[in-house]
Amino acid sequence: MKPDIHTTYLGLPLSSPLVASASPLARNVDNLLKLEDAGAGAAVMFSLFEEQLKMEMRQVQQLWEAGADSFGEALSYFPEVETYPVGVASYLELIREASERCDMPIIGSLNGTTPEGWTYYAKAIEQAGASALELNIFYVPTDISRTGEDVEQRYVEVLKQVKKSVTIPVAVKLSPYFSSMGNMATTLSEAGADGLVLFNRFYEPDIDIDHLILENSLSLSHPSEVRLPLMWIGILYDQLPVSLAATTGVHTGRDLIKYLLAGADVAMTTSALLKHGIGIIPSMLEELELWMRLRGFESVKEMRGIMSRKHVNDPAAYARANYIKILHGYEG
Ligand SMILES: Cc1cc2nc3c(=O)[nH]c(=O)nc-3n(C[C@H](O)[C@H](O)[C@H](O)COP(=O)(O)O)c2cc1C
Repeated sequence: MKPDIHTTYLGLPLSSPLVASASPLARNVDNLLKLEDAGAGAAVMFSLFEEQLKMEMRQVQQLWEAGADSFGEALSYFPEVETYPVGVASYLELIREASERCDMPIIGSLNGTTPEGWTYYAKAIEQAGASALELNIFYVPTDISRTGEDVEQRYVEVLKQVKKSVTIPVAVKLSPYFSSMGNMATTLSEAGADGLVLFNRFYEPDIDIDHLILENSLSLSHPSEVRLPLMWIGILYDQLPVSLAATTGVHTGRDLIKYLLAGADVAMTTSALLKHGIGIIPSMLEELELWMRLRGFESVKEMRGIMSRKHVNDPAAYARANYIKILHGYEG
């Protein structure tokens, strides 16, 4: 019998636990339909960015101030809009069309760092038909006087404001860089998060030593990067009333299986799709189903979390005790 790979994420029933995470693939509805046909359980839209929204608001304000007579002249002062992937109106239109044409849930994504203004766009995304919203809080605290508490408060405030303005479920895509990751997860859960997406992948700059410039090129992930999100999903499993989504390093069915065993409700993928195309989804799901059949698992529900900290025989493997064992066990 074919194993049951249905799952639930943010309270939404999904046909599979493999979700297309935020990426340029979501820039047109045809791609979203292809993702659905290939077996994706849901798709997250690329993010609307704070800078993009601020710029559009500035433009509207300037046009307003310039008045209808000087409309053309005023336009010439505006910054290059082309540097941004898509305007707010097209973004909302894309969500509207995708939600109408796809059966799988379409999840909107906002890149929020400040609470102001976000409620408006969160509401607009909800009204456009998104089934849920992911808050992509990509924030590097370069101001070294800012305390950890300040930074955490920023996440919480954005979340609280957004939660007040929408009724669809809200997930927070967060960074792993908190002194107490588990406590931060608890705080977000208490502030109303319906799900946590672990983790946002930061794109740190590199230095080009020949030209003395900072390089910001984007590198795709590697399967070895599953370990950090895997550890935290394994620790958080069954401790908080939130959905857990894993993002980073899902390149094969094996990576998907690992995340489900640790306790993820869904595993998300982008790099593999950009590298190998949407056609890799069926092979990942086939690998999952074959593995389930060989191991006698009838449903994803049965296998989920069995390798979490709560369920393994040696929970210390998730903590410091194993650190010493690992270092001493290295044999070159
Ligand atoms: C080209 C590209 C564009 C991305 N755009 C977004 C985005 O708009 N919003 C977001 O939250 N994450 C974005 N991401 C991050 C992915 O959603 C994902 O979390 C990350 O790539 C790790 O998953 P992976 O290992 O499967 O690639 C982007 C990643 C790539 C490679």
